[in-house]
Formats: sequence, C-alpha cells, structure tokens
Amino acid sequence: MLSSLALALLIISPFASAAPNLVPAAGQSIPLIRRAQPERTVSDWEAWAKNERETLTTKYGGNLAKRSTGTNLMTNQNGDSSYFGTVAIGTPPVSFNVILDTGSADLWVADQACTTGCSKVQLFNDLSSSTFHNLSQPFSIQYGSGAAAGTLGQDIVQMAGFSVPNQIFGVVTQATSGLLSTPVSGLLGLGWQSIASSKASPFWQTLASSGSWTDPVMAFQLTRFINGSNVNAEEPGGSFTMGMSSFYGVCLQVDGRSLGFVDSSLYTGTIDYQALPSTPSYWLLPMKSLTVQGSSVTIPSGSSSYSAIDTGTTLVGGPSSVIQSIFAQIPGSQPGTGNWQGYWTYPCSTAVNIAISFGGPSWPISPADFLLTKISSSQCVGAFFELNTGGSAPNWIVGDTFLKNVYSVFRYNPAAVGFAALSQTALAMNGVNAAAPSPTIGSVSASATAGTGGGSNAASHSWGVSWALLI
Ligand SMILES: *[C@@H]1O[C@H](CO)[C@@H](O)[C@H](O)[C@H]1NC(C)=O
Ligand SMILES: *[C@@H]1O[C@H](CO)[C@@H](O)[C@H](O)[C@H]1NC(C)=O
Repeated sequence: MLSSLALALLIISPFASAAPNLVPAAGQSIPLIRRAQPERTVSDWEAWAKNERETLTTKYGGNLAKRSTGTNLMTNQNGDSSYFGTVAIGTPPVSFNVILDTGSADLWVADQACTTGCSKVQLFNDLSSSTFHNLSQPFSIQYGSGAAAGTLGQDIVQMAGFSVPNQIFGVVTQATSGLLSTPVSGLLGLGWQSIASSKASPFWQTLASSGSWTDPVMAFQLTRFINGSNVNAEEPGGSFTMGMSSFYGVCLQVDGRSLGFVDSSLYTGTIDYQALPSTPSYWLLPMKSLTVQGSSVTIPSGSSSYSAIDTGTTLVGGPSSVIQSIFAQIPGSQPGTGNWQGYWTYPCSTAVNIAISFGGPSWPISPADFLLTKISSSQCVGAFFELNTGGSAPNWIVGDTFLKNVYSVFRYNPAAVGFAALSQTALAMNGVNAAAPSPTIGSVSASATAGTGGGSNAASHSWGVSWALLI
C-alpha cells in the first residue's frame, strides 16, 4: 500500500506533462538546432534568428504566451536537513542538483575551476556549453551557514519544463566547507530580486513576471523522514510546482499501460494567503501568535515579528527572549552548552506541540519535527534555536521544521505566502523509503546528470541555515 503510493510520485501528472509541449523546449530543440547547423545558409540563419527572437519575445514578453505549469520532484537529503531539485544549464543541457531556497535569490553552481568546497560534486563546465557567456563580474553571497564566490555568467536555464534563455547565475569557484554536500552542486534562490547578490532577476521571477505560469505561484510539499529508522541519505523529498498551487491528479501507469486517474491533490481545504507586509525581499510574514502545549507565548509585534518563510533553512530560528519563553513552557528543558549553545534540550519523553499563526489559522508543528535529535538517554535537542540576525535580516527564520507540516504557496502577485493543510496523499509520503527522483528537464531526462555520489546512509548532522544575509 505504502510503496504503491510512493510509486505514484514517479508518475507524471497531466498538468506537468503539458509543460514540455508548451516549452518545446529547449531540452529538445537545442540538439536539433545543433544537428541542422552545417546545412544552413546565411538566409536560413536570418530566418531562424528572427523566428527565435519572436518566439522568445512572445514567450517572455507578452500576454500571448501560452501559460503552463510544471513540477520538479525533490530529494530529501540527510533526514530532512535539506531539499534539492534539479535545474539544467547550458547547451547541451546538463543537470545539477540545487537546494531550493526561498530564503535567498541567486542561482549558482560550482564550476570546474572550483578550488575549495566543491569536492565530490558535479561541476559546471563553462567551456562545454555553446550558449554560455562570461559576464566577467565578481559574484559572492553570504548565507547564515557559509559563503560562495566566483564570477557571474549567463546561460539557458531549464527546470520543470520551463526555460529562461539568458539567466544570470554565479559560477562558483570557492564555497565554505560543508555548504555543498554531495550530490548537491549549488543553490536555486527563490526569493525576490531585491535581495539578489547578483542583482539579476531570479529564474522564478522572470517566469512569473512574464506570465509564463498558469497561476503566479510556486508551491512546496516537503516530506518528513526525521523520526524514521533506516533513513537513507537521499529519500523522496516531495514536490516543487511552478505555475499552479497543486497538481490535482495523476494517471497511474504501469509498463506504459494506464490504470486510471487518481486524485492526488497535495492539500485539502483552502489555501490561507497572507500578504507580504512590505516591499518584497524575503518571503516575509509577520508572526502573529505562537502556542506551546496550548499556551500562548508573547511575541514581539511589528517588524520584530517578521519571519522569513525559508525552504532552504532546516530549523526555526527566533529571538532569544521568545525561544527562552517557549522552553520555559517545557518542564525539564535546559539551555544547550558547547556546540549546542543557542539550542535547548528537553526531556525526550515530552511530546512538544507548537503551533504558529501568521494572521490566519494556527498551524501545528508535529512533535516529530520539534525533536531534532537525542543527545543522551533522556534529553533531546529542540528544533527551535536562538537566532540573532541583526541588520536588516528578519528576526525569525521559519524553515523546514515548520514547512513539513503544511502545503506552502509563494504567490508573486499579489505578493503573499499561503498555507494549506496537507492531504492524505501528501502525508502518506512521509517516512516511506523509496528511490530519490532522478534529474529531469520537464518530462525529458537530462543529457548528463549529477553524480549520485553513493552517499553514506548515516544522516549527517549538519543543519543548513541558508537564508542570505543582507549586507
Ligand atoms: C570569466 O572571466 C574571468 C576574467 O574576466 C575569469 O577570471 C573567469 O575565470 C571566467 N569565468 C568562467 C566561468 O569562465
Ligand atoms: C513520526 O511522527 C509522526 C507524527 O508524530 C508519527 O505519526 C509517526 O508514526 C512517527 N514515525 C516514527 C517512525 O516514529
């Protein structure tokens, strides 16, 4: 029963499969163009160039563009530490695993010239892409957990059936040790252009602003493996959808034979949207209330309540005073020491129930997500930590600890974040071991894929905090 539900993940929805038709995409058309090359005359090329320009202008510049949706199946890495998907870059397209990060706004991948922090990951080879342009400008980005630097480049980037022809991205030659963990080669920032270190329009924002999507939204369903046993370094991570808020059905196929249509909506009820409180930068929502074991904890209001809704951060970080008040409601809890400074321990026998409201419903976090790890026979570490961001960074970073408990929707226009309850279909994917999805470009397999690295089975204890710092 459970394994057949996992199988359903591999099945392409009618909506997702529509995407490659719309974007005849780059994934298929580029090799054809290359094959035709020797036979073309100058006037053939002129006609081709004109057609190409008009097609792209229509696709990215006008209302005539056919709108579409696409889904990228994600991988859950190291017991909910991070969630990655795949983008394809260049001509011919090569796919790379990238952390999908709503807490920053730059795309970057490790380059073959990388000297530090890139060992054992698939590297971008700028020399083997005929469409790559070196912008010869320095690129660097600082995250909560490290930094990456290199130069800016421009190339065709594709994901989930969508294509952006001149995406600016960081070609990284230096990364902080531990920032990249095999088989991840980089990061796809899904925050707003105003926080992009490169100053470039993020991939998602180019698509959303050009009307390429059926609905101006992207949505996440993240799986939970943290409390499972025999968790592999890579497990099915859930789905990332661009262009609509869920895929509503799948055609079940076995050996090419259709077994019918199954409702697989990933959420139930309505999506509660809350508007971003200020000019879009991070995906910010004001935290309105927080309860622990049913009791309210006082939280600062106004801009002190701003929370970055961040798929690229594993845990939930907040102001020290509030984190202390939270643990004050949990008998037997103590501040962590040594490497656990800023974290709190509590008796593992206590099921901690926290719920958060951003103005709409109060969304409960499973006790399984609150229990980060066991550090002694009786004490566990909680997944809420003391964060002192400072500067213009938000006071709260609300990461996967929370996001695993909801279906989350990031809306371009009007700018908002929405949450909905996960459906039984989505919940049934939690903790069900299966092969992680293989890299794709829409429904087309990428020509070359990132090495799977044969990662260890032991879930490593590095918790990503990838929100970008505004400096
Ligand atoms: C881009 O050009 C600069 C020199 O302007 C060079 O240092 C850098 O290595 C080049 N980057 C790539 C990815 O080719
Ligand atoms: C993980 O936690 C969920 C929710 O608390 C629970 O339903 C599930 O049984 C747990 N799984 C394991 C393996 O403990």
